Amino acid sequence: MTFENILYDKDGAVVVITLNRPEALNALNGALMTELAQALDGAEGDPDVGAVVLTGSPKAFAAGADIKEMADKTFMDCYLEDFITGTWERVARCRLPVIAAVAGYALGGGCELAMMCDIIIAADNAKFGQPEITLGIIPGIGGTQRLVRAVGKAKAGEMILSGRIIDAVEAERAGLVSRVVAADALNDEALQTARKIAELSRPAVMMAKESMAAAFEAPLSHGLRHERRLFHALFAGEDQKEGMAAFIEKRRPVFKNR
Ligand code: HXC
Repeated sequence: MTFENILYDKDGAVVVITLNRPEALNALNGALMTELAQALDGAEGDPDVGAVVLTGSPKAFAAGADIKEMADKTFMDCYLEDFITGTWERVARCRLPVIAAVAGYALGGGCELAMMCDIIIAADNAKFGQPEITLGIIPGIGGTQRLVRAVGKAKAGEMILSGRIIDAVEAERAGLVSRVVAADALNDEALQTARKIAELSRPAVMMAKESMAAAFEAPLSHGLRHERRLFHALFAGEDQKEGMAAFIEKRRPVFKNR
């Protein structure tokens, strides 16, 4: 697939989507977000694909929503076009696991986009923040909700209310990122993680993701029931039989659904 604001590469069972507006530090505009949604449609629609890596450049994952595109909008423009719903939330609705490989700036909408992914792997030069308050606005695509859940009230409060930017080490300590790697190893690490996931049983991975989503959206009792039903459902498939037989027979499993 070819696009103007992103790159789309298929590497075996992994799709790598690279945000590609270097002149604007990958600032997210409507055109880019529409292309990103189309790329995810493509990845999801391809039965060979088991995981997606979303990345940017060595200097910026994304320095936020495009301020130049937003600057002149009025309340009525935002309200009538329902600004930033729809395609902007597409990553959060992706049924395949998405790994954000973040180097450089992940600010504002960039940080929010990374938080929509399932796993964030950070380069040691990564910087995360919600500087919207310094522009006279607040995060608009999930920052006040997902950051609070990821790092807790105290750190999220300081980041969202003062605009303080944190580095990769602090982000890892706070639980925002799964791990920090050397900047030049970022792509390989993200790709290896994605490949490992793509080798596993696709329905099991998809149901694990679906069940984790319930942790954010439902009360504990509903989330637990949802998890239990999906857990039961996996016993209807071949991959559970194969995975457990392989363990007992001391061999590697060969999953049918991947
Ligand atoms: C539009 C941007 C941009 C942005 C950078 N650029 N960030 N354009 N929107 N969010 C452009 C600059 O205007 C500049 O273009 C070029 O990218 C390089 O940026 P510089 O500022 O010259 O680079 P540098 O000095 O290295 O500073 C990097 C930076 C700074 C610290 C990341 O660019 C910065 O503060 N950017 C804005 C960060 C921010 O406030 N993000 C939140 C946006 S609001 P020219 O043409 O001058 O070379 C938001 C709301 C989300 O995200 C909710 C709705 C989705």
